[in-house]
Amino acid sequence: MSLVNETTQWQALQAHWDAMKDVRMQDLFAADRRRAQSMTLEAAGLHLDYSKNLVTPETLDKLIDLAKAVDLEGWIRRMFEGEPINSTERRAVLHIALRNRSNRPILVDGQDVMPEVNKVLARMESFVGRVRSGEWTGHTGERITDVVNIGIGGSNLGPKMICAALAPYQSESLRVHFVSNVDGTHLVETVRHLDPARTLFIVASKTFTTQETMTNAASAREWLLAALGDSAAVARHFVAVSTNAEKVAAFGIDTANMFGFWDWVGGRYSLWSAIGLPIALAVGLDRFLELLEGAHAMDEHFRTADLHENMPALMGLIGLWYANFAGARTHAVLPYDQSLRFLPAYLQQGDMESNGKGVTREGVAVDYSTGPVVWGEPGTDGQHAFYQLIHQGTQMIPADFIGAIHSHNELGDHHPKFMANFFAQTEALMRGRTYDEALAEMLDAGMEEERARFLAHHRTFPGNRPTNSILMDRLTPHTLGALVAFYEHRIFTQGIVWGINSFDQWGVELGKKLANVILDEIRAGKVTGDHDASTRALLDHFIRRRKG
Ligand code: F6P
Repeated sequence: MSLVNETTQWQALQAHWDAMKDVRMQDLFAADRRRAQSMTLEAAGLHLDYSKNLVTPETLDKLIDLAKAVDLEGWIRRMFEGEPINSTERRAVLHIALRNRSNRPILVDGQDVMPEVNKVLARMESFVGRVRSGEWTGHTGERITDVVNIGIGGSNLGPKMICAALAPYQSESLRVHFVSNVDGTHLVETVRHLDPARTLFIVASKTFTTQETMTNAASAREWLLAALGDSAAVARHFVAVSTNAEKVAAFGIDTANMFGFWDWVGGRYSLWSAIGLPIALAVGLDRFLELLEGAHAMDEHFRTADLHENMPALMGLIGLWYANFAGARTHAVLPYDQSLRFLPAYLQQGDMESNGKGVTREGVAVDYSTGPVVWGEPGTDGQHAFYQLIHQGTQMIPADFIGAIHSHNELGDHHPKFMANFFAQTEALMRGRTYDEALAEMLDAGMEEERARFLAHHRTFPGNRPTNSILMDRLTPHTLGALVAFYEHRIFTQGIVWGINSFDQWGVELGKKLANVILDEIRAGKVTGDHDASTRALLDHFIRRRKG
C-alpha cells in the first residue's frame, strides 16, 4: 500500500497550498458574505465557527477527496462495528460502546458487548449511591468524605479533567483527589490533610502493573494501615478499576470491590468506562450518564453526518491541512473556561499518544509529519504568557478557542470581560495590523514621526493566523461529553488519513524498560549496566551523592 502523500489527492492539496499560501482570510470574507454562516456547524450542543481558517470551499472539497481516498467513512464504520482496527494489538476500539446510550448491539467476536457495559454501569450506580448516601462507611463506621484516585495516564487525566470541569455539579460532602506521579510528594501532599478513617482509595489501572500506580497504591495502603492498624480495613477503603482481576486480588483488593472494563477500551479513551468512577462519585451517576449521552450524541453525528458537515472530520482535515501543507508543528487548545484548565493536558495524551507515530499500520516509515505537539492554557492566563508568539512569532500555530455563553459563576461582569477577550483574540489573530495602520495610530495619538516609524515595525501584526471557535450554551455534563468525543474523533480522522494506528502506544515502552534496569542499579548502589558515558556519569553522581 502506498503512502498517503503519494496519492493524487495529496498532490492536489500540495498544489492548492501553493495557490493559497498568500491568500488573506479577510479577502475571503470580503468575497463571500455568507462565509461565516456557511462555515458554522451545530452538533450535540456545540457551535463551531471554522470560518477563520485559511480554507475555501475548494480546499474543503480537496481535503474531503483525500479523506475519501483513504476510506475514512469505511474506517468510521469499522470502528463502530467493533472490527479489530487496532491491528498491532489485534483489538477492537470501542470506547463508543461505553456511551452507546441507544443500546444498539455492538459485536466483538460475535458477542454483543452492551449487556456487559450496562452491568458495570449498574454496579457503579449501586456503589456510587452507597458512598454518596453514607451507607458505605470506612472500617471504623465513619462516612467517606474524601476519595483519592490513584492512577496515571488515561487512568488519571480523563477523570481529573472531567471532575474539574464539572466542579459546579459536585457534592460538597465528597471531595475527589488525584494522585498520579510516582514522586512521593504527590501522595504525601494529597493525603496530608485527609482522615484515613474517612478516605476511600480507587486504584485505577487497566493493566494493574503500572509502576507508578502500584507504588502509590502500596504506600497509600501503608498510610491507611498505619492509622487504622487492621488489614481488614483495606476492603472498606480500597476499590479497584481494572481489566486484570488476578493482579487486583494479588494486591489484596477484594475482587467484589473491583469494577472491570475490557481490552477494547484504550487507556486514553477510558474515562467513559469504570475509570470514570471518581467522576460518578463526584457528581452522581445521573450526571455521569449525561456525560455519556453527550458523547453518544457526538458519536452519532460523526457516524452519520456527511463529511462536508461532519464537525470532527472537518476539524481533523483542517488540522492536517496546516500540519502537512502549511508546515504547522503544534496545535493550541485554549479554553476560555477555568473549569477546562486540564483539557490541554488531557488532549496531550489523547492526541500525542495516539498520533505520535512514525510508521503506517503496515509498518512503513512515513515521510510526512503526523501528530502535532498539542498544548495550551486557559485564556486569559495564556494571553499574558505565550500569545505574543502566536501573534507575532515566526510560526503558524492553529488554535482552538473554546468557551461558554453562560458561566456557572456569573460574577459581576467577569464573564462578558472574559468572553470579550475570546472574541477579540480570534479577531486580532486573523486581522493583524499592517505597518501603515500601526503608524497612523501612533501619529494620530501625536507621536513624533521618526519614533512612530521605528515603532511601527514592532507594532505590526502579520495576522492571517487560523483559529476555530467552539461555543456551548453552558459547560454541562452533556456538552462536555460532546466536546471530548469531538476531539477523540478529530484524532481518529487524522490517524486514518496518515495511515497510522492511533490506538497503540509502543513509544512508552523503552523508557519503562530501561527505568527498571536502572532502578536495580540504584538499589544495589552500583552502576553495572551497559550505559552511555553520560548516563553512567549521572548515575554515579546520583548514587554517590545519595550515599554521602
Ligand atoms: O503511558 C502508557 C500507558 O499505557 C497509557 O496508555 C495508559 O493510559 C497509562 O500508561 C496507564 O496505564 P494503566 O491504566 O494500565 O495503569
